[in-house]
Formats: sequence, structure tokens, C-alpha cells
Amino acid sequence: MKIADLVQSADWKAEKHVPVIEAPDKVKAGEKASVEVCVGKEIAHPNTTEHHIRWIKIYFKPENAKFAFEVANFEFTAHGESTEGANKGPVYTEPVGKAVVKLSSSGTLIAEAYCNIHGLWEGYKNITVE
Ligand code: FE2
Repeated sequence: MKIADLVQSADWKAEKHVPVIEAPDKVKAGEKASVEVCVGKEIAHPNTTEHHIRWIKIYFKPENAKFAFEVANFEFTAHGESTEGANKGPVYTEPVGKAVVKLSSSGTLIAEAYCNIHGLWEGYKNITVE
């Protein structure tokens, strides 16, 4: 068993768990580029004390490289917890994160998301450095 066997992917327009990466298709080498990731872009994922997205990570795998690099790590830690009980709290963190990157090589941005009851999901976006 490998962890890769447990990571699910699907069309994000039909499946609410898939992390969606929004970034430019092309960037210039060394220039700042905004990378935003979210879960539930087309179909909202629940955000309750019992059922929520716990974290999203972004990796970058340069083309022709063997290894991926971790780019950003977002933890979403407020899900309505309160002394009043579950879902009575004053704050919920939405599963959205933004990073700014500078790339020197074309490659693939890979997002991995974790739902506390539906496990691991991934999405990706290719990005070209000109
Ligand atoms: Fe879920």
C-alpha cells in the first residue's frame, strides 16, 4: 500500500473535494506569480465542526525533475467549535489559500487537500516559464 493509492482525483466541476489551483498559464522567469488554491470551487464543500477541509498543500514539480518541492501549506483550524457546542462558534476558516511564487522552470503545480472524513484529494495545473 502506498499513500498515492489513497489520493483521489476527479473533475472539480462535479466533485466538491478536488483542490482547484488558479494561476497564470505562462509566467516570466523570476517574476512574482499569484497561486490560489481552494476546495469547493463549483460545488461548496461543507464547513462544519464535524465535516470540513483540514488542510491544503501546494507542491511544484519542475519538468524533467525527479522530485517535487513543497510550495505552501495552509491549515484551516476554525470550524465552529465553541463551549456552546459544535457549530455554535463565531468563526469558520474557508478552505482557500494564496501564495506568491517565483519560478525559473516550467512544471506542474500540484495541490493536495485533506477532508477530515473523506480523506486525500489532489488537483494540478501546468505552468510554463517563458
Ligand atoms: Fe468531505
